[in-house]
Amino acid sequence: MSQITVTGGKPLVGRVDIKGAKNLVTKAMVAALLGNTASVLKDVPKISDVEVVSRLLQLHGVIINHGDDGVMTLDPSNVESARMVDIDAHAGSSRIPILFCGPLLHRLGEAFIPDLGGCHIGDRPIDFHLEVLRNFGAVIEKLPNGTRMSAPDGLKGAKVSLPYPSVGATEQVLLTSVLAEGITELSGAAIEPEIMDLIAILQKMGAVISVDTDRVIRVEGVEKMRGYSHRALFDRNEAASWAAAALATNGDIFVGGARQPEMMTFLNVFRKVGGAFEIEDDGIRFYHPGGELNPVVIETDVHPGFMTDWQQPLVVALTQAKGLSIVHETVYENRFGFTDALNDMGAQIQIYRECLGGNPCRFGQRNFYHSAVISGPTKLKAADIRVPDLRGGFSHMVAALAAEGTSHVSNVQLISRGYEHFLDKLAALGADFSYTE
Ligand code: EPU
Repeated sequence: MSQITVTGGKPLVGRVDIKGAKNLVTKAMVAALLGNTASVLKDVPKISDVEVVSRLLQLHGVIINHGDDGVMTLDPSNVESARMVDIDAHAGSSRIPILFCGPLLHRLGEAFIPDLGGCHIGDRPIDFHLEVLRNFGAVIEKLPNGTRMSAPDGLKGAKVSLPYPSVGATEQVLLTSVLAEGITELSGAAIEPEIMDLIAILQKMGAVISVDTDRVIRVEGVEKMRGYSHRALFDRNEAASWAAAALATNGDIFVGGARQPEMMTFLNVFRKVGGAFEIEDDGIRFYHPGGELNPVVIETDVHPGFMTDWQQPLVVALTQAKGLSIVHETVYENRFGFTDALNDMGAQIQIYRECLGGNPCRFGQRNFYHSAVISGPTKLKAADIRVPDLRGGFSHMVAALAAEGTSHVSNVQLISRGYEHFLDKLAALGADFSYTE
């Protein structure tokens, strides 16, 4: 198990360059299955989620080349069924396999999906996905080690409505409807920038998709699609993570590749907390301008709200703000587990079952600790920490870098699921650490 020994208390200063969004790139790779010619995806980071999806695509006959320059080619000319046992070897490693369903049903008439993985931040059911696929005509059978699907009569466009604007289920509809016969109307769709980028890719491939007002997406099925060439949208979750790291460590980080439009909601909150930023053509500089940080009240939400993935790194910075901050998590029911380790390091964070916010939330009056009150500023001290999940783990690293003394952080390989060259970036920012495999 990999471990980092970090001596904190030193501002992170320097430049990091980020590539395409984990939460777009992996879906764009799956979309390549829909084309009858090869696709080219640019700015693909070397992260383990990309590796898992590459391996699954390769098992299905896709030829992939991923260069050090971040350019990936995916040739789906010879798509074929994979052996269940080979697919099963990837069980529990990612959530992306569920998005293989539509494309594989179109290409092969059948699909087998292993049991899913991903971060433990809630139950993360797939009921919306399965319901949507049934609407298109898929026949679904749950097996002990995964889910098997077939489409004996082909897939047909459908009128579908999501009970919650799920990112994954919206992508499921898009990837399934583009080649389905007839028209699909999706209401209650997620409209995150990563979804808009996926729609742009599908349009390049030949799809006909319109995004209407009020979360309605309409798709007119086409008979065939070709490959695409596309530069992936930057990873705004990674950008926000480094921004929060700059604030928490009193630092100054230029995030190359970050752009303003997709980060407006984050930038507003960052400014209210007392952080400063400068927007340049090739990235955004985030820094602590000196003085006290301010407490804030935020609620995580679907786009265009404050993203759930931004919450954890920001909470570390909020431990340094003077007063009481409140964070109401309305997307996942169990995303405050990481605060225990922060409290062990000297933070004062209380979590509550109650909804501490004005947004109607699905988790109120139930047994979910989904609101947090952070009282600051508190001096953080070094500790021994085990990384629990991707964003929580990044936050623990930031806390260790902000804390006085030497911390030991284990299970750090989890962070590489979503942050490319994480340790190299820390080194470039002047962090004082050593790494053992
Ligand atoms: N949900 C259901 N049933 C479903 C699908 C979702 O109840 O069938 C619920 C979830 O349990 C959750 C909510 O709907 O409470 C939202 O889930 P969503 O489907 O939007 O999330 P996702 O597609 O599984 C993606 C990102 C997450 C990010 C969320 C929200 C990927 C691979 N993951 O997850 O990213 O937090 O959207 O923006 O795209 C991360 O990067 O660390 C991460 C967790």
